[in-house]
Amino acid sequence: MEFEWWLSEASAETDEVVRAYLPPEEGYQKTVLSAMNYSVKAGGKRLRPLFLREVYRLFGGTGREAEPFMAAIEMIHTFSLVHDDLPCMDNDEYRRGVYTTWKAYGYDMAVLAGDALAIYAFETAAKAFAMTDKPERVARCIGLLAQKSGIYGMIGGQTADVELTGQPLDEKQLDFIYRLKTGALLEAPMMIGAILAGADEEQVRTVERMAACVGQAFQIRDDILDLTSSREVLGKPVLSDEKNHKTTYVSLYGMEQAGKDVEKLSREAIGILETLPGSHEMLRGLILKLVTREK
Ligand code: IPE
Ligand code: IPE
Ligand code: MG
Ligand code: MG
Ligand code: MG
Repeated sequence: MEFEWWLSEASAETDEVVRAYLPPEEGYQKTVLSAMNYSVKAGGKRLRPLFLREVYRLFGGTGREAEPFMAAIEMIHTFSLVHDDLPCMDNDEYRRGVYTTWKAYGYDMAVLAGDALAIYAFETAAKAFAMTDKPERVARCIGLLAQKSGIYGMIGGQTADVELTGQPLDEKQLDFIYRLKTGALLEAPMMIGAILAGADEEQVRTVERMAACVGQAFQIRDDILDLTSSREVLGKPVLSDEKNHKTTYVSLYGMEQAGKDVEKLSREAIGILETLPGSHEMLRGLILKLVTREK
């Protein structure tokens, strides 16, 4: 109960930070600005900025330079969703309880809004330079954000996901896709939180391993919910994977094994968390929540 109260406060504060960095909707490019903000403001769990904030605090961070990065990671994540939903990708019509960006603004504006979110994320993250006396940490985090979002991260994973659609995948291919398309965007915020707060090299690697387990568990749970939930609860269509003939963790290993592996990976993440300094309570609660999440 106490955790639930904390989570609703923490999520509201995180949401406020994310919204504070959105661009004003004005000028001749107003349409794309409004399309960018539409998808971010539609909601979402804000899990990635929340993880960033909590890992930053775990390592004793007390400044404000984490805030632009919290907004930036949510922009990158939202860009990945805007493009993921496009007719040429997963071809989905609902996201975060409302029409997907391409349904609401057209194919052209959805492509541009995704591009704009990706670039504006870095413009936003760079604002952290003015908020710190450790610019080298900010610089490293900007590089890391790019790496985990790009060809060696989310975009790399989405490439394999899209290209191998309709084909049977082996375990190694599926692992690669999940590690990159989903894992990378959970590794980035947790590692950024650690780096900004001054964690040492070994601790940053440990955080990366923890986040990788969370990412894998998160995507398996997403696959389960695609089969067992409803659009009303999820805010996005169910049976999207089946429609697109995707090999998923559930189609490869079965529902029962998938459920067990979400638990196993979450336990592994918590085991790693417990080797880190600081108070683990909130992060442990957050990771546990992902096992049973319904949306
Ligand atoms: C959805 O992510 C995409 C995946 C990586 C599975 P979330 O489930 O975090 O989506 P929002 O941000 O809450 O909408
Ligand atoms: C999402 O995978 C990964 C992204 C990088 C967007 P999915 O295609 O399963 O995500 P949802 O189910 O549409 O949110
Ligand atoms: Mg997809
Ligand atoms: Mg999708
Ligand atoms: Mg999915």
